[in-house]
Amino acid sequence: MKNFVPGPTYEEMLYPEELPQTIRTKAAAAQADELDPANLFNITWRRSDNRIRHVVLPKELTGVEANILVLVGRHFPSGSHKVGPAYATLMEGELAGEIVPGKSTMIGPSTGNFGIGVAYISRLKGYRAIVIMPEQMSAERYERIRHYGGQLDLTPGSESDVILVLERTREYRKDTRNKVLAQFELLPNYRFHRYVTGRSALEVANEYGNGRVAAFVAAPGSAGTLAAGDEIKSRFRGCIVCAPEPRECSTLFNNGRGTHRIEGIGDKMVTLIHNVLTTDYVALIHDEDCLIGLQLLQQRPALVEQLVHLPEGSLKCFRDLFGVSSLCNILGAIRMARFLGLGSEDNVVTIATDGFDRYPSVLADLEERCGPFAEPEVRDSFEKLFRGGDAADLLDVRSAKEKERLFGYKEEVWAGFGYSHTYLEGMKSQSFWDAETEKIAEIDAALAQARSR
Ligand SMILES: Cc1ncc(COP(=O)(O)O)c(C=O)c1O
Repeated sequence: MKNFVPGPTYEEMLYPEELPQTIRTKAAAAQADELDPANLFNITWRRSDNRIRHVVLPKELTGVEANILVLVGRHFPSGSHKVGPAYATLMEGELAGEIVPGKSTMIGPSTGNFGIGVAYISRLKGYRAIVIMPEQMSAERYERIRHYGGQLDLTPGSESDVILVLERTREYRKDTRNKVLAQFELLPNYRFHRYVTGRSALEVANEYGNGRVAAFVAAPGSAGTLAAGDEIKSRFRGCIVCAPEPRECSTLFNNGRGTHRIEGIGDKMVTLIHNVLTTDYVALIHDEDCLIGLQLLQQRPALVEQLVHLPEGSLKCFRDLFGVSSLCNILGAIRMARFLGLGSEDNVVTIATDGFDRYPSVLADLEERCGPFAEPEVRDSFEKLFRGGDAADLLDVRSAKEKERLFGYKEEVWAGFGYSHTYLEGMKSQSFWDAETEKIAEIDAALAQARSR
């Protein structure tokens, strides 16, 4: 392929140590310049010493016995793990001949992080990128996209108006030089998270407690990250997969469709790539709780340490690691652990998709709306967030009736985008998802061949 800029296979994103040493050396050196294309080989959950990036939350903070393990996404190139699905979708498009290196234009429908990933990967691989996203997302998101040379096409509204973003992509599809990297509907997103994130999560859990995963918690935007739950379930059948969503936009819970403040999740739909068969619970989390939780950990850690009798400075290591949706996942994980009555040998795995660098403007806005965060409020907020939560905010969606309801929501959206009844019916069987995962071997072989030419 002329002008083809090489990147890693799925296997190499999971095990970068399998890369030839010359590439590893170049990738390590490229960390000094984020626009060096060798950074494509840094798309992985691993640090340079091969350990999966994660933190374990102190039990004094969580108030539960179970180990709450958080995979940390902010060290991925471009600042969030969403760069993984962006890369995988582009890479598969190149192999399928749908994307012509150096010539095609990448279209990234997004609420921010996927768009940042699309702009970034396109820059590294030499493509023009247009990111379609709502106009009311955090200022830091637009800045990053522009910084990577991406062009913005903004649609009205905020996080929960993603459907307008999808509708806008229709126009771009008319020009065959455009390739829509459709995160809500294309399976590379599923494959990246099932294989790379899922196996990384299993490896982390292996180091703690009984080595198993009792629950996996990931709030869905595209629902790509939730695919890690499929991989975990294939190893530990009893693992409970929980999808938190904003109380203000309780789509999976009860078809609620309001606006909310948790950027990246709660998109008012069941996405096409959401395997609803493996989602066991939906948890409602108040959006403002996630903002306040972030404010507590980021701006008031010393007060929290005092409150829960942790040694001074023990929460310092979490500084900058979390964004708003990370707090949604963390609160969901704590509440799930409490609800399931998990003990000290049990592990709950969850995800911090991005870090604080995307949110200074969001916390500044919170302070403007609510005033400065005074000490007595910190105490009350901490209790409410980290010790609160109600069983009524959890919905068990394991029954056939609930699955049919969720399939119905999915069909409602995606039949309108041209997906046939037969294709949608196929998604009602786990074998559909397993077959999509098995394609990884073939895709990796094709990429290895393209790289050797
Ligand atoms: C900050 C943030 N959190 C969570 C998510 C949800 O991840 P996924 O799209 O894999 O469901 C996204 C997706 O864009 C995000 O940007």
